[in-house]
Amino acid sequence: MKPTVVILAAGLGTRMKSGLAKALHPLAGRPLLQHVLEAVSGLAAGKTVVVLGHQADRVRKIAEGYNAAIALQTEQLGTGHAVMQAQEVIAAAKGPVLILCADTPLLTTATLRSIVELHAASRAAVTVMTAVVQEPFGYGRVVRGKGGITRIIEEKDATTAQKKINEVNAGIYCFEQRFLLEALKSIKNTNAQGEYYLPDTITLARKKRLVVAGLVCGDPDEVMGVNTRVDLSRAEDIMRTRINRAWMLAGVTMLDPNATFIGSEVTLGSDCILYPNVRLEGKTAIGKGCTLFSGSRILDSTLGNDVTIKDCSVIEQASISDNASVGPFAHLRPGSVIGARARVGNFVEIKKSTIGEGSKANHLAYIGDATVGKDVNIGAGVITCNYDGFEKFPTIIEDGVFVGSDSQLVAPVRIGRGALIGAGSTITKNVPADALAISRSPQDLREGFAARRRKMKQKK
Ligand code: UD1
Ligand code: CA
Repeated sequence: MKPTVVILAAGLGTRMKSGLAKALHPLAGRPLLQHVLEAVSGLAAGKTVVVLGHQADRVRKIAEGYNAAIALQTEQLGTGHAVMQAQEVIAAAKGPVLILCADTPLLTTATLRSIVELHAASRAAVTVMTAVVQEPFGYGRVVRGKGGITRIIEEKDATTAQKKINEVNAGIYCFEQRFLLEALKSIKNTNAQGEYYLPDTITLARKKRLVVAGLVCGDPDEVMGVNTRVDLSRAEDIMRTRINRAWMLAGVTMLDPNATFIGSEVTLGSDCILYPNVRLEGKTAIGKGCTLFSGSRILDSTLGNDVTIKDCSVIEQASISDNASVGPFAHLRPGSVIGARARVGNFVEIKKSTIGEGSKANHLAYIGDATVGKDVNIGAGVITCNYDGFEKFPTIIEDGVFVGSDSQLVAPVRIGRGALIGAGSTITKNVPADALAISRSPQDLREGFAARRRKMKQKK
């Protein structure tokens, strides 16, 4: 039977020392809660409900993205109390209830499946996932006695001897529905933290001589709980290793996988080469055979095949077609569309503009709100003056135009096909096709002036 899933995400996460609710802290570019929802989405689960409290609106948005229901816990009185807030959904459940925490982002679907399967096979009232760890500090310890697990004791309630136990509660449980509803009513908050502990349901099951099953997770990393920023950085490390390994196995070269940062939602084609300190974020999609040199950050952008991004470029919400080259030190801002074989070079900034096939802006330019055709050459230092302090205006540069260096194109303005703009011009009026426009002041020439001046200065 399909399990109903309850995810606990109401806590602030005091140990994070943060204004941001723990479930919202990003790991590999996506909130902790979302990682758990992803693992659940691979499972053929029934209804999923997220228990939220702190920063409920933001947490709700993430839950809704996965069609999960929500239950509000206005006061955080403990994990047992949190589950109680979802009792309506639990009461309506037709199968087992799988309970997870939002702060175990490294969980995989396979592990969730294995606890659901063991629970069904063992006919247990509750099946709890445990892990044997080197550093059990902070976790609930698993006390085993005759007939298996007898109870879970929290760090703050544990004796010195119990603190030495290195089998810990992973915070992942599968419950028989009726037992859970009953048990939740009977747990008390008489403990060091004054909270209603969900693991106390295990003691109850044993009292009632019901079966308590335990599943030791083979990979303790997978069930690690993120409680502090130190845990968060460890989780980031493990997640990065996982993501990078998968991409390398899919045919991507990384010169230093420890210094390559790829978000969970990024995709890459085969034969890409990633130099150290490349960051790929958001919904970035990279085609085949692209080379990304060091120090570049690419966010929510699409790259075609065989694109080269030279060192230290920042690319945000842009799209770059096949065989184009960007950088070094280029900035593509949102709405930049770079055509096939185009070149955007050193210290060039582009915003909300289309650069046509084979066009070049190789040095020190600002192109904003512009439509640039094919095979256009934009010289060094060219600027589109797109803003008058109040409004933005468009610049249109048609196919085959040559814009000489250090020119300013004062928008709105259109440069016709094949036109030539003389270097150093300030263009304020439309230029027809194939014309030359030049607005430089005429050059004054005085023969021998420099030599005479030198002589005069030297005499003094
Ligand atoms: C919990 C377990 C501990 C286990 C560990 C595994 C309890 C009492 N302890 O401890 O045995 O080893 O997880 O990682 O269950 N939450 C709410 N509402 C609340 C309290 C917590 O929604 O009132 C949520 C939190 O947002 C979090 C999860 O429950 O996602 C776990 O809470 P946390 O405070 O991190 O529990 P731990 O102390 O880690
Ligand atoms: Ca925790």
